[in-house]
Amino acid sequence: MPETEKNLRAALQGESEAKKKYELFGKKAQEEGHPFLSRVFFAISHAESIHIKNHLKALSVLTGKESQLDEFVSINEDEIMKKVKTTKENLQDAIKGEIYETKIMYKEFINNSRVENRNVAELSFELAKKAEYIHAKIFKKYLKILEKNKSILEEDLYVCQICGNVEFQKPPKKCPICDHDQFFFKKM
Ligand SMILES: [Fe+2]
Ligand SMILES: [Fe+2]
Repeated sequence: MPETEKNLRAALQGESEAKKKYELFGKKAQEEGHPFLSRVFFAISHAESIHIKNHLKALSVLTGKESQLDEFVSINEDEIMKKVKTTKENLQDAIKGEIYETKIMYKEFINNSRVENRNVAELSFELAKKAEYIHAKIFKKYLKILEKNKSILEEDLYVCQICGNVEFQKPPKKCPICDHDQFFFKKM
């Protein structure tokens, strides 16, 4: 099996776990009285589902057959549930995960896909890597606000349906990550 295929499978597993984890973190934030932060977690969970869609497409191109997520991913909800702590700790966990994906995992996967000349997978990894960087920045911002006991500003939230970039207030004319038009941003 080409390294790129193994990497796509690993990325699908990781993104699926992150997607589920952020849903649970979102519920916890709601319980703790942070409704907007809850929406942020749900928006970023949705962003991870875009990475899943892109990686799945790349895997179909690579293998030449239609790939279904449940062939490659198994989610242990009990294990993910154990990760849910206080919202502050959840934000720390989320930051760690996003930084790992940006700086280590996707970096390595991009290199492997380049070596194997798998352009579709490389692009999918590249978009995810850049979006995860933005996700980490967003989580850091809210962790700081909670640590300083400041109140959280409610803003409109948008997710790019092509790359999983998250923007506040209003969508940019063009997505700074994937260069797609404003039209591709979905209000969350
Ligand atoms: Fe992310
Ligand atoms: Fe985008």
